[in-house]
Amino acid sequence: MEFTRETNPISACTAEAVIIGVFADEKPAEALVKVDHEMPQDVLNQVKEAAELDGFKGKARELLSWKSFGKIPAKSLLFIGLGDEKEYDVSTSRRYAAIAARSVNKTAKSACLVLRRPALLADVQAMVEGWHLATYSFNKYKSQPDEAKEKKGVTAVAIKAEGVEHADFAAALRAGDVIGEAVNFARELIAEPASYMTPTRLAENAVALAGDSLTVQVLEASQAENLGMGAFLGVARGAEEPPKFIYMRYTGGADAKRTVAICGKGITFDSGGLSLKTAAGMEHMKYDMSGAAVVLAVMKATAQLNPPLNVLGIVAATENMPGHRALHPGDVLVAMNGKTIEVNNTDAEGRLILADALSYAVQQNPDEIIDIATLTGAVVTALGRAAAGIMGSNRKLMENLVESGKSAGEKLWPLPLFDEYKDSLKSDIADLKNAGSKGEASTSCAGMFLKEFVDGKPWAHLDIAGPAWMDKEKDEINKGGTAFGVRLLMYYLLNGGDSTADPQSSLRVVQ
Ligand code: BES
Ligand code: ZN
Ligand code: ZN
Repeated sequence: MEFTRETNPISACTAEAVIIGVFADEKPAEALVKVDHEMPQDVLNQVKEAAELDGFKGKARELLSWKSFGKIPAKSLLFIGLGDEKEYDVSTSRRYAAIAARSVNKTAKSACLVLRRPALLADVQAMVEGWHLATYSFNKYKSQPDEAKEKKGVTAVAIKAEGVEHADFAAALRAGDVIGEAVNFARELIAEPASYMTPTRLAENAVALAGDSLTVQVLEASQAENLGMGAFLGVARGAEEPPKFIYMRYTGGADAKRTVAICGKGITFDSGGLSLKTAAGMEHMKYDMSGAAVVLAVMKATAQLNPPLNVLGIVAATENMPGHRALHPGDVLVAMNGKTIEVNNTDAEGRLILADALSYAVQQNPDEIIDIATLTGAVVTALGRAAAGIMGSNRKLMENLVESGKSAGEKLWPLPLFDEYKDSLKSDIADLKNAGSKGEASTSCAGMFLKEFVDGKPWAHLDIAGPAWMDKEKDEINKGGTAFGVRLLMYYLLNGGDSTADPQSSLRVVQ
């Protein structure tokens, strides 16, 4: 797929399909003349008539297709309703490109997307992302690939936007391309069945990303043992598949002043262990490594875009299985930081492996730590699939991540870490137990548990259990594993990855 800048006026544009957004209070022909004053009058008249016949209102996602039959070089104009102009933001740009991609991809070979406001680089980037995201599909195991999905017609997308320097425009195209591809890379890892995407394969995927600025180390169980990762290895005990602890380090060059550590939950399948899940609760549990997939994708994109900071990617990967050596409820584990944990529920395994991943991160002495995990069912109950929960110990870091999420089209919503929640993690025989009282603030309790392992460092925890999996596709979101978090973390890192910055100061623009 090639993304370029369109420099011709629309009436001379040679892409097969030209896509133009229409605001709620305008008509397609008005939009058309605004984006090209030279548009022939008969084209305007026909578009006007077509819009009237169709009753086109410019409501968000509304579509109107007009065939040119040689009146202009483009074969068709596709008008897409953008909704209210005052509400237009970067997410609208991404969504609009995604809708365009879904509707022209089956028929056209080339497309031109017209931006309807003076370009912010973030819009250009978001449009490229949206195109990638909406055209993703996973067909590896289909012997008869789905016909509609198979026809990936468009191979060239040009974006028409005014008011930005050429070099900046090219950089925004590239950032969108890299981030879009990184999200789809993570989606691919998640889509693979658990029997294929084992901790070993996950580690192989990480190793394959190594390059000049990115080193990758995979620690085997014996090395994890030497480091004292008792919590991580406890979870791995029930599985035949060997666990892998993945440590990736991106070095951002001489200008790099800060180091951000990102830890991902890599449970390649969560059966619950001896605290076994129900059949329905287990069905999609291959996606319990979504946090890990996001970390790999973020490291991949970071190494391609080279922001001036250091980023550590840390993934604890194992299955959670009820094998004959599995953890018994009631077992006590010693985590890497020396704390002892009574495992009262083997299904609360994510926090156990993250305990050691976070302790490991602390040892590398980063400026801040972010973890990302499909950690609790309760966050799905609280927020549904619309947003991930964010908790943490540092208000600025959390605010910055929330802001990044807004531009990235990945919403984060804060949940509390009240001291009271700690009481529910009190154990009679160990320093703490891994699961609180059933049905009581289980997302916050999980967050409270993790807090015990960050040693007071600025830290934020993203519980992505909801938006990491979708049952329906919509706009830029695919069905299945979505890789939620790649974009927001990339926006955050490209903005400096600086939790001390004023979250309002920067309009999330990528250089
Ligand atoms: N992987 C699950 C959380 C989950 C549930 C993710 C549903 C996506 C959808 C996690 O390991 C888990 O089982 N958590 C338990 C914790 C409980 C035992 C304290 C949960 O949320 O039920
Ligand atoms: Zn679990
Ligand atoms: Zn889990």
